[in-house]
Order: sequence, then C-alpha cells, then structure tokens
Amino acid sequence: MPCMFAYAAAGSRVQFFAVTSRDGAVEATPVSDCLHIDTPLGRIKVVHHTLKVLQAVAAYAPSAPHLPIALGQVSTALTLNGSFLSSVTVFPDFIRKRVNLSQLQGGVLDHRALVAMYRAIGHVRCLNLVRLRGDGGVSLQDDGTTVLHLEPLGLPLGLTGGPAVESEGSLRDAVRGVLTALVVLHEAGYVHRDVRWPNVIRLPAVAAAAAAAASSSSDVYVLIDLEHAAPADCPLDCRRPPYRLPTWPGSRILDPATGRFTCESDLCLVAEALIAHLPFTLSDSGQHLREQLATRKLPTARAALEHAWLQLAAASP
Ligand SMILES: Nc1ncnc2c1ncn2[C@@H]1O[C@H](COP(=O)(O)OP(=O)(O)OP(=O)(O)O)[C@@H](O)[C@H]1O
Ligand SMILES: [Mg+2]
Repeated sequence: MPCMFAYAAAGSRVQFFAVTSRDGAVEATPVSDCLHIDTPLGRIKVVHHTLKVLQAVAAYAPSAPHLPIALGQVSTALTLNGSFLSSVTVFPDFIRKRVNLSQLQGGVLDHRALVAMYRAIGHVRCLNLVRLRGDGGVSLQDDGTTVLHLEPLGLPLGLTGGPAVESEGSLRDAVRGVLTALVVLHEAGYVHRDVRWPNVIRLPAVAAAAAAAASSSSDVYVLIDLEHAAPADCPLDCRRPPYRLPTWPGSRILDPATGRFTCESDLCLVAEALIAHLPFTLSDSGQHLREQLATRKLPTARAALEHAWLQLAAASP
C-alpha cells in the first residue's frame, strides 16, 4: 500500500491520518479535520471517514502484492520418504527458515559450516544478499534441524505463474542485484549453486530505501536460499547425484574437466536461469552479457558488473 491509514484520539477529539514513508522518513499527513465525537455531526463524520478508508483499501486490494505465504503461516517441505526437510514462516520483518541439512538433496554444508558462511558474509553489508537477523539468528535444535532468522523480507518473483520480470529494465536491476550478491559470496570463498528466480526476492523501492536508510528510486533484488552453498574450492565432482541439483540446466555449468561447481558456474546460472525465457526481446547488449557469462568469458562477478549493459541507469528500458 502506498500509505497506511491511522487515527489519533485524545479525549473526545479524533483525527485521521495517511502515514507515508519516503527516503527512510515517516510522515503523517492529516486526511480529516479534527473531529469531535461529543457531537452527533462529529460522530457521523468519524463513520464517514472510516468508510472512506475502507473504500480506499478495497480499491487498492486488486493491485496489492500477492503473498504466497501469509504472515505467521508455515510452509513445509518433506523429503521423498515423508520426513521433515524444511519450512519457511513469514514474520512481519523477517523469515524463519528451519532446515534439516542432513536431508537436503545435494547439500554440502553442515550446521557449523553454514553458520561460518553466514558469519563470513555478514561482515559485508550487502543489500542484495540475504543475511542473518541480528547477532543470533541461527541455532541448532535438539532434533538436528537448523533454525535461521533471515532478512530482508521481500516479494517472491513470478508468483502467479507469470514471468519473474516483465521488462528489460527490471531484468537489468535483478541481474545487477544478483551479481552484486555473488561478488560478496564469492569473495568470502563460497559458491551459491542454486541461482534461479525462486531464490531471488524483490524489495519494492520504498522498502529498499527504508532498509538502506537512503533513497532508492528502483526496486532492489536480493539473492536468498544459501543452504545449497559450498566452499568455492570444494573438490566434489557435481556431475552426478547427489551433488548435481535437479534444478540445474544441464551439466555444462560445471567445470568441464573436473565436474566441480566453481564461481563461473554461478555466473553460468545467471545466464541460463535468469537471462532466459524472457517475455520480451532482449537488446543486443543484454544478449552479449548473457553469452559472455554462459561461455565463461567473464572471470568474476565483479568483472561481469562492469559490462556495458549493466552500466545503463537503473530501470532504463
Ligand atoms: N526473505 C524472504 N522474503 C520473501 N520470501 C521469502 C524469503 N525467503 C524465502 N521466501 C519464500 O520462501 C520460498 C522458500 O525459501 P527458500 O528458497 O529459502 O527455501 P527452500 O526450502 O530452499 O525452498 P526451495 O526448495 O523451493 O528452493 C522462496 O522461494 C520464497 O518464495
Ligand atoms: Mg529456494
């Protein structure tokens, strides 16, 4: 919602406000006179304004973001033999994720190693990468499940079966965000291994500005779901199960000689899972970046961010 409605009451006086947030600052604008509920006319006006608020909320409802998991609701995934695998619960300002790492298909990190990774990336404040909430944020339960409290909370992409991004400008913002996250992850010594749209969330510009305590004129895209990550120098041959993830678009993303998943493999996933199946015709420059990433011509995520296509202003068409 572009604003939140509120009222203030003192004694027999009531006033309605629209509360807006811009550039991290919250502002309350009066949307009614100061009404006096000790008079019949004042009480009628209070009812009138209440109905007006309801009318505004009802008019906004069709364009409100659709959230796949309601606040407080738990979405649980089970393993093939029916035991607990993972769950996600949405809280007002964070996500609680429970995961049984020992059951995670293709997972490499155990609890200790996962905690070490979150700590390693936590030293860098990167808006585009999921992070633990606060200093705690991670614990190991008696039943062996890892519980993570993660932020930021964003909007999942491609919810209603539609495309994850609808314009080249949005794709550019998303790819820039994911590559920025990969710079942090790779430079901390880890690979993500599961770059795809369900693991990217969008922070609308207003929320992004509040999170950064700065102005943001465009949406911010955040790479989430680090539970399939691995050390970048992990020697495992990922050409075969269990280390080959079913979501990978073939084995060509792996190092052709060793079958290892490398930092370049993450960049291949950016090309093959994100800059693919688009609902619009991609410009020559965008296609050039895609080809460079897919054929390992760009050695690092940092080098990829220098590409001309990503230098265009945010939200350019
Ligand atoms: N911070 C977040 N903000 C908004 N939605 C989120 C967030 N984290 C997770 N989700 C939602 O929950 C889904 C599952 O989260 P996540 O990918 O971390 O877990 P997962 O168990 O690995 O799921 P999957 O196996 O589908 O990849 C995401 O695809 C997204 O829709
Ligand atoms: Mg996921």
